[in-house]
Amino acid sequence: MIQTKVDLFPNNTFGIHAYAERFAVFKTVDELKTLLKDHQATESQITILGGGSNILLTKDQAGLVLKNELKGIKIVDEDDSFAYVCAAGGESWHDFVCFAIDNKLGGIENLSLIPGSVGAAPMQNIGAYGVEIKDVFHSLEALNRSELTLQTFTHDDCKFGYRESVFKNELKGQFVITSLTLKLSKVHTLNTSYGAIDTFLADKGIKQPTIKDVSEAVIAIRQSKLPDPKKIGNSGSFFKNPVISLDQFKTLQQKFPTIAHYLNADETVKLAAGWLIETAGWKGKTIGNYGVHKNQALVLVNYGGATGKEIYDLSESILQSVKSMFGIELEREVNIL
Ligand code: EPU
Repeated sequence: MIQTKVDLFPNNTFGIHAYAERFAVFKTVDELKTLLKDHQATESQITILGGGSNILLTKDQAGLVLKNELKGIKIVDEDDSFAYVCAAGGESWHDFVCFAIDNKLGGIENLSLIPGSVGAAPMQNIGAYGVEIKDVFHSLEALNRSELTLQTFTHDDCKFGYRESVFKNELKGQFVITSLTLKLSKVHTLNTSYGAIDTFLADKGIKQPTIKDVSEAVIAIRQSKLPDPKKIGNSGSFFKNPVISLDQFKTLQQKFPTIAHYLNADETVKLAAGWLIETAGWKGKTIGNYGVHKNQALVLVNYGGATGKEIYDLSESILQSVKSMFGIELEREVNIL
């Protein structure tokens, strides 16, 4: 059923009030096909929403907004070492992680509590605490919006990069991810090297952690640093961490000796955008009912009632001031709608 003039407030974790001209949900792939077939020719635009956790609504949305409510998580194949788990695009990402942990399957415990849906996860190759979805990806199915056929994408087809995939680039707007299959391990290799995880486990006296212990550590770390979108509107990291050349980094480091960074294997350097923003003086800054989070400068927050345009303008001011201080152009990670 298509509704008109629907407030998208419940469908975006930034907690912005913006209206969809028309709105419908799809619970099956056939429903999605029918909606696209019937409305593609007449609507000015069709926007697909997942969990709404990586968008900033800066205006009312013209045309038809479709919410992915495809459900189901199941083990589709397994051998002695691995299980292949398929989840529908409208499932919550964290429910997928919980399913894996309940079934003693390793690989995504570091990605616990990331807000958003399964379908959106590969789109931006979500990552946290040393793991990215590409590390456990097997395949995905997506509906070609113009041909209305399902297509399978392999790892190579997705062209994953740091918070990147083919679906944010060449194929932007052309597919709806309907399901995702991950290759999860029965024999667990834990990745606790991200400092805070080891510290958390050591503090608890856990010497031989399980995937559940790692998941609990990640949840505790996230809760201590990142605002809970149910309480304070936000979309996680607003910007990407910029990647620069080693030469450019050396020059910057002379001027800013404490600059937070990680050396990549390919001789590039990833800078902590949070450090740049904090050093430019933005951390904890509040303007009316929105601002920059006090514990993590990479996260912009809506304390309630801010407009998307106000938050966008704040992000523009941050971008400009980081650029003038460091000569680095930050890139937004959140999709601006
Ligand atoms: N830092 C500061 N000030 C800040 C924030 C960070 O100086 O206000 C510096 C510190 O030196 C800190 C370093 O930045 O050690 C890294 O900070 P953190 O561990 O919080 O990670 P991040 O690089 O800021 C990335 C992801 C997060 C992910 C964490 C943990 C991006 C854009 N963000 O943040 O992902 O949870 O690592 O792996 O890559 C998201 O994408 O929405 C997200 C939250």
